Amino acid sequence: MKKIKIALLGIGTVGGGVWDILHMNKDEIVGNCGYEIEVGKILVRDVNKKRHDGIPKELFTSNYEDILQDEAIEIVVEVMGGIEPAKDYILRAIKNEKHVVTANKALLANHGCEILTEAKKQGVHVYYEASVAGGIPIINTIKESLAGNKFKKIMGILNGTTNYILTKMTKQKVDFDTVLKEAQEKGYAEADPTADIEGYDAAHKLTILASLAFGKQVEFQQVYREGVTEIKPIDIQYAAELGYVIKLLGIAKEKEGVIELRVHPTFVPESHPLASVHDSFNAVFVKGNAVDDLMFYGRGAGDLPTGSAVVGDIIAIIKGRENIQIEEKQLFPQDNKRIMPMGDTESEYYVRLTVKDRPGVLGKIASLFGKHNVSLASVIQKGEGDPSVSLVFITHYTVEARVQRALEEINTMEEVVELGNLIRVENGEKEMGA
Ligand SMILES: NC(=O)c1ccc[n+]([C@@H]2O[C@H](COP(=O)([O-])OP(=O)(O)OC[C@H]3O[C@@H](n4cnc5c(N)ncnc54)[C@H](OP(=O)(O)O)[C@@H]3O)[C@@H](O)[C@H]2O)c1
Repeated sequence: MKKIKIALLGIGTVGGGVWDILHMNKDEIVGNCGYEIEVGKILVRDVNKKRHDGIPKELFTSNYEDILQDEAIEIVVEVMGGIEPAKDYILRAIKNEKHVVTANKALLANHGCEILTEAKKQGVHVYYEASVAGGIPIINTIKESLAGNKFKKIMGILNGTTNYILTKMTKQKVDFDTVLKEAQEKGYAEADPTADIEGYDAAHKLTILASLAFGKQVEFQQVYREGVTEIKPIDIQYAAELGYVIKLLGIAKEKEGVIELRVHPTFVPESHPLASVHDSFNAVFVKGNAVDDLMFYGRGAGDLPTGSAVVGDIIAIIKGRENIQIEEKQLFPQDNKRIMPMGDTESEYYVRLTVKDRPGVLGKIASLFGKHNVSLASVIQKGEGDPSVSLVFITHYTVEARVQRALEEINTMEEVVELGNLIRVENGEKEMGA
């Protein structure tokens, strides 16, 4: 049996999944690529730490040079995470003409171009299917199966932790802090949940998807980002009354060379396929000019689902079925497409205000929206007779900057107690040219 040697950098959740799949599905893998994949070395910080069962002790090393200098190792699989030393290790593997598979979205979103350029120079592959939406095969689908399309839109639930939190808040009618605590106790959320709940993780993934789909090197910092920490049970309740569910979406659109990139909580119509993606599941919705609408659904994290994507990449490299010149050209080419400022983006908007219950307040607010060319589709008023009442507006399709300017002025009104929330509404079919 022909063998290919690989090294794993890290053997935590994903590395452990890769190890298991390589052993559990050995015959299928040999059948698919004609080689047995052998793990030659595993890099960890502490070689004495008790970890994944059944791994021979001699495979572990804490010295990267052992992997770098081992000529029999052809593929380095980076599943350790973080920017450094992962970036340094990957660049050194590439320089030593080793192919690389990585699941590291934070690294790719920040340094993907540099890494892929270096790989092109050295004539090696860097594959990264697991970096976006775990087990969902979206990267290679965009690169290969959908390569005949011009993409208009990619929209996704790209973070399982926040989808789990929003699902629980919706079903159990509890507040954000309570659900986060429960999610941490069950291991669904990290002890430091910032990357998930503030939308950084979803923004990393959107950066990678948009760069690929629109053929432009998108900078992570160019993605507008809002997390889910300001979502209140009352917003979820109003969403339901109006026929929506709230999801943290990553949205990337291109129209006439201008790219829109944003991650924020979004009102999604109950009838939209993304509305029925619950718990920790991920989904990516793609609109191509030839294929039209597609949706990919599955597990965005976890040892075996993410390991499945990593092993698929290892097999793809072994089969060498892609031409490196073409692949890298397609990835992050320089061009003159530009990124749309957030203020120019268009949407419908949900606005929740708390105001003093006085005659004429509603009219005053409506006329301020009108002054800034924001027309209102519906209004809900609740809490009659109380000193302050809740006012909810859904606007017609309009420009973000107009809504922001209107709210700035509305917020100066003496009768306005609190600007409760502003959430964008994704009603795709109403977009101009959708
Ligand atoms: N978890 C998921 O479901 C998932 C899904 C998609 C993508 N990813 C991505 O996959 C990567 C790995 O995630 P994970 O959840 O598997 O992480 P993890 O469970 O924390 O495991 C990390 C592993 O890397 C090793 N490691 C970390 N820093 C190291 C260093 N400086 N030198 C040597 N070894 C080091 C650790 O070894 P020690 O134990 O010795 O510290 C550990 O074995 C990340 O980029 C993550 O974003 C994860």
